[in-house]
Amino acid sequence: MPTTKNRTSVRTRRARTENTSSPRSSSSSKSSGQKQTRSSNGKATKSENGSLNGNSQLEKLFTDSLKDIYWAEKHLTKALPKMKKKATTDELRSAIEEHLAQTEEHVSRLEQVFEMCGKKAQAKKCDAMEGLTKEADSIIEETESNTMTRDAGIIMAAQKVEHYEIATYGSLVQLAKTLGMNDAAEVLYQTLEEEKQADEKLTEIAEWNVNQAATQEEGEEDEEEDDNEDEEEDNKEEGEEEEK
Ligand SMILES: [Fe+2]
Ligand SMILES: [Fe+2]
Repeated sequence: MPTTKNRTSVRTRRARTENTSSPRSSSSSKSSGQKQTRSSNGKATKSENGSLNGNSQLEKLFTDSLKDIYWAEKHLTKALPKMKKKATTDELRSAIEEHLAQTEEHVSRLEQVFEMCGKKAQAKKCDAMEGLTKEADSIIEETESNTMTRDAGIIMAAQKVEHYEIATYGSLVQLAKTLGMNDAAEVLYQTLEEEKQADEKLTEIAEWNVNQAATQEEGEEDEEEDDNEDEEEDNKEEGEEEEK
């Protein structure tokens, strides 16, 4: 007979491995710690038309997290073009451009998921994503333009963004499955896979193109003028964004 402790650890391990697996690869009844969303017959709390009833804490967590990532994705559609503009290599610029197109699709997919839940698409400010994009701005300010070091910095900042998205979508896929929203889980899973691919692509660019070249670059003393130019441009862009 397994002890309670053993049973718990097996369930925890299973939940961990399922967190990023395809929605088709497991049934929604396998996740742990989320039984409060199920009725006595084991069914999730979604209504007959497939939307959420909105009457459990877990549903609220799910929809609040959707609002958070919806804000984050919309914010990224403005932040990625800035990163692209400041990048040095064509390879990084085209990778960012490709992911910008995907990010626009991620916004549409989230609107689809809100609809599947019977909710109006709504954005709630994501402090984490705002912080990550501010960090990207600082890296750009602190590195010289047209250097591989700047690209290495942009890749690092962009990968932090991707990792935040991977963590969020991984959890959302699992929550959707737990709530019986398997169609929503499928849609969220498509985005999760694209975030992972974007992250891998950035790793490739860093490994094969950017990092090694950046080791050849030396710091320069007379970088102030260039920095000021960048700063002025960024302040202008920020002002424009705030007005919106
Ligand atoms: Fe995204
Ligand atoms: Fe992304």
